[in-house]
Amino acid sequence: MASTEEFDRIIDRRAVPGEKWSRFEGRDVIPMWVADMDFAAPDAIIDAIRARLDHGVLGYTDAWPSLEVAIVEAMHRDYAWPIEPQWLVWLPGMVSAFNLACRAIGDDGDGVFSATPIYPPFLGAPANNRRRLQQAALRQGDDQRWSWDWQATEAAMDDRTRLFMLCNPHNPVGRVFDHRELEQIGEICTRRDLVICSDEIHCGLVLDDTRRHLPIATLDESIAARTITLMAPSKTWNIPSLYCAFAIIPDQGLRRRFRHAMRGIVPHANLLGLVATEAAYRYGEDWRRRLLRYLRANRALVDEQLANIPGIRVTLPEATYLAWLDCRVFARRRGVADLSAHFEAHGVGLSDGRAFGAPGFMRLNFGCPRPVLAEGLARVRDALG
Ligand SMILES: Cc1ncc(COP(=O)(O)O)c(C=O)c1O
Repeated sequence: MASTEEFDRIIDRRAVPGEKWSRFEGRDVIPMWVADMDFAAPDAIIDAIRARLDHGVLGYTDAWPSLEVAIVEAMHRDYAWPIEPQWLVWLPGMVSAFNLACRAIGDDGDGVFSATPIYPPFLGAPANNRRRLQQAALRQGDDQRWSWDWQATEAAMDDRTRLFMLCNPHNPVGRVFDHRELEQIGEICTRRDLVICSDEIHCGLVLDDTRRHLPIATLDESIAARTITLMAPSKTWNIPSLYCAFAIIPDQGLRRRFRHAMRGIVPHANLLGLVATEAAYRYGEDWRRRLLRYLRANRALVDEQLANIPGIRVTLPEATYLAWLDCRVFARRRGVADLSAHFEAHGVGLSDGRAFGAPGFMRLNFGCPRPVLAEGLARVRDALG
């Protein structure tokens, strides 16, 4: 199927229950908030699930050898990263995984660092596990590019900091951190003896041709030994509700602590998620490439429609299908106290930056058929008019 036809197809998501579209049920609001896309999952995944269902018996199941080989091969193919099957820990999601990392590392009251703005569950995870959140803001350079403020990063830490929570590629600013930035993080974590928990859920969604995702654990063996890398097929292949993710933890001691934190609390990843994961990493590459082409064109449309609107500044992502809108000037000039409500009143539902630690910003999800995106962007322009 030609790429545009495949992703242009509008599927009525209101026909089934679902978080993204149910939120505005009965209202004429286009949902461009929570991070899933309005595209059907690849046939290879649907077919694999169907074939497994045809067996009929859905009993308890652990990950199986060919699934683990698929992950080992994918890490080698995509990142030249030679991992061992025994480094894998299967999980029913990423959020549980970074909460587990907080729980596994350090003691009550120890510090967990996160840079803001950030995917909201990062901000809650330390307190959920009796740790202290230590945060510093990323900063925007003169070229509008988001990057690290190393001084603020270290100033946020103290001698009880134990864990560095990294999100790469980054949600919501869309950066794919480069070798130099990751090395600097590695240097800080080595000098301070921190464990790194690296959420790389968006690693399959790099849109810029000039950038490549680099798992921080591939920097060198000593960084790998202090890193819990978290990955999942859920964003790239649009299967988040199958709840299946995995951690790659090369160090045996760290892996043991992580597994220990799971005991009696974290269930196995579900069978259909595991089946889908194998299909995604084995057979999902062509679909992923077609998706990236489509998302690049969507990103260009966001740029075309929103680039020159007074009062807002748009960050287009290097990876992810999420654009990050700085609406602070607009909100101040127009006296808009509640940006979410303002956009919804104009027929478009965005994610509010307040939850990401960044009031005055909004996140726009452009992972949808182009005609829907065009209408959504027209509404955003109307809201800002
Ligand atoms: C950076 C990041 N991590 C984790 C998640 C959610 O992962 P899960 O649904 O597997 O808990 C998301 C979803 O948007 C995300 O953007």
